[in-house]
Amino acid sequence: MKTVVKNIGLLATPLGNKARRGKEQGRISLVPNTYIVACDGYIAAVGGSNATFAGAVDDATRIIDAQGALVTPGLVDCHTHLVFSGWRQRELPLKLQGLSYLDILRQGGGILYTVNRTRQATLAQLMESGRRSLDIMLAHGTTTCEVKSGYGLNLEDEIKSLRAIGELNKIHPLDLVPTFMGAHAIPNEYRHRKSDYVKLICEAMIPAVAGQNLAEFCDVFCEDGVFTVDESRAILECGARHGLLPKIHADEITASGGAGLAGELQAVSAEHLIHADDKGLVMMAQNGTIAVLLPGTSFYLGESFARAGKMIELNLPVAVATDFNPGSCPTESLQLPMNIACLKYRLTPAEVLTAVTLNAAAAIHRADAIGSIEPGKQADLVIWNAADLEYIFYHWGINLVRSVVKRGKPVSL
Ligand code: NIG
Ligand code: FE
Repeated sequence: MKTVVKNIGLLATPLGNKARRGKEQGRISLVPNTYIVACDGYIAAVGGSNATFAGAVDDATRIIDAQGALVTPGLVDCHTHLVFSGWRQRELPLKLQGLSYLDILRQGGGILYTVNRTRQATLAQLMESGRRSLDIMLAHGTTTCEVKSGYGLNLEDEIKSLRAIGELNKIHPLDLVPTFMGAHAIPNEYRHRKSDYVKLICEAMIPAVAGQNLAEFCDVFCEDGVFTVDESRAILECGARHGLLPKIHADEITASGGAGLAGELQAVSAEHLIHADDKGLVMMAQNGTIAVLLPGTSFYLGESFARAGKMIELNLPVAVATDFNPGSCPTESLQLPMNIACLKYRLTPAEVLTAVTLNAAAAIHRADAIGSIEPGKQADLVIWNAADLEYIFYHWGINLVRSVVKRGKPVSL
């Protein structure tokens, strides 16, 4: 079926099929007064001026009137922990008393609380809470997201979580990309024998996950007191041998060497990077690793902010994502992280737009299919309650999405 989105006041999109780095990240296409033609879910043409669109329309065409609004590619959230049971609002008073994220984890709370609850949940319960969160994401403009497992931390419950991601992908309009993250924390029963847990990940979980085609990527929480650089390397190399591409939670809370390891392993992405040093960032830049930054997590943990300007200067492609999870960033919306990226990282609106579309798509190996508005790509679009790009980085704390188009179809919100 043919869809035409007409009366676009401003079309803002990065261009290309791969991540944009350095100065290129801020060079986007801005086309005033235009329209988009989509056929069977894919963009067929980005039109000339609004006046010429009549030629693209026949009786069967579905017409969406953008009424002069800003249109961008659908947002791509390339880092979430969406499938879980066990919200952690009870940790808020502890946080306010001054306990740190790692203090709470060390006391058996934090991720481990959510692990207990997730183990008790059925597949259907995980899917139901996941579905609610996906609805919220879509209403806030996200049309594709990556989702990590990592609240099961045993073979059965990691598989259950990844199945929930796979099933949600089938039933929900949003596209989901699965990542295996059995190395998200050390489960209580392995507290005093971490090496046995690493062995379980490598010898049982990774072969099972890869064998059943349940994930595309493998991620590790490389952090002081969680997985060391050597343990992370062993897990990610094992994942790679089984076809799971490496990603790393790197240098989130302390400088732990994760960025350097990401470069060494030619990881697809290194994520967080709040405390990454120059040497690690240079290693990443030399090896094609994408920096996935999570400004909502810095905000919520009261941490400092990743050095995004330095990363751009070093010619690294920067992506921005939510990190949606019940502990360090409980929000499904990418919009506040986008505002924070602009105000705290001092990235320009154009750089942030690229970070949440094309570069985020590249961080989940989807840059050939999504992340920009060009012929051949999926017709995933956001129509904003805004007339220009600056507005969505300026008017904050509310949902500025007017409507969403997913694979050429208007999504009812
Ligand atoms: O990216 N760092 C580890 N994982 C998440 C937090 C998960 C949780 O606290 O439940 C993060 O911040
Ligand atoms: Fe995370």
